[in-house]
Amino acid sequence: MRPPMSDNSTAKIGVFDSGVGGLSVLRAIWQTIPELPVIYLADQAHVPYGPRPLEEVRSFAEAISRYLISQGCRIIVVACNAASAAALHHLRARFPAIPIVGMEPAVKPAAEHTQSGVVGVLATPATFQGALYASVVERFASNVRLIPHTCPGLVQQIEAGELDAPETYRILSEALEPMLLARIDTIVLGCTHYPFVIPAIQQIAGPSVRVIDPAPAVAKQTRRQLIAYGLFDEDNPPPLSSNPDRHTRFITTGNVEKFKAALKQLLNIDAAPTQLRWSQNLLE
Ligand code: DGL
Repeated sequence: MRPPMSDNSTAKIGVFDSGVGGLSVLRAIWQTIPELPVIYLADQAHVPYGPRPLEEVRSFAEAISRYLISQGCRIIVVACNAASAAALHHLRARFPAIPIVGMEPAVKPAAEHTQSGVVGVLATPATFQGALYASVVERFASNVRLIPHTCPGLVQQIEAGELDAPETYRILSEALEPMLLARIDTIVLGCTHYPFVIPAIQQIAGPSVRVIDPAPAVAKQTRRQLIAYGLFDEDNPPPLSSNPDRHTRFITTGNVEKFKAALKQLLNIDAAPTQLRWSQNLLE
């Protein structure tokens, strides 16, 4: 059932990730729904999420969602595969009035696209452990060979802005070379940080290997959910902004200066992020 809109104010979109990875999703949201204000929260006090127990990631995700809702967000985009794996069902049960959009590895389009029948999946350990991954594999990959890899250290390289560094290439080569020998023709990016190293991936894998970034599909799903919940009226949208970054508020639980530099490097924007501190598992 569609919950009624409680007021006529423009709905705010809450987006979060362990760090800068969700910016790859934010970029797609700006393109797909440029009219709506966004709060982006990077939980850099806890990055990386991938090696942590799912219960711990779930408690971060719940506290962040609670905070974003308290700031007026009417929809939450979990722009993080690890947090989606750990917490998506939990968040939907905890906040039943709020649409929660999550990420799952794009195994379905990969299985539809592959000619060689062999697909590489790059994601963090939390994502491979979660029931969501097991479910997409079971539903969509019965006729496909999937080769998973966790790329240890890659999230930290991207957080540090080391997109072209030799260590980044070493991590990626170690993951991709066995996959290429096994004749993959498609790579699924199951971590939202990884789209920022697509040029490096493509350089190692060659132009004939297709790399699937799920961000545009997630942004479209966000738009559909906003419409379904009566939070966005396509026929009467708020005024279109030519600079959606101006109505996006950036928050980090980590270092503000580093996050500001990442926003410049990854999105080419000059933003003024603010810092939020964790206090006894709560954000304030
Ligand atoms: N960007 C995240 C994901 O999509 C989390 C990476 C991490 O913090 O380990 O999984």
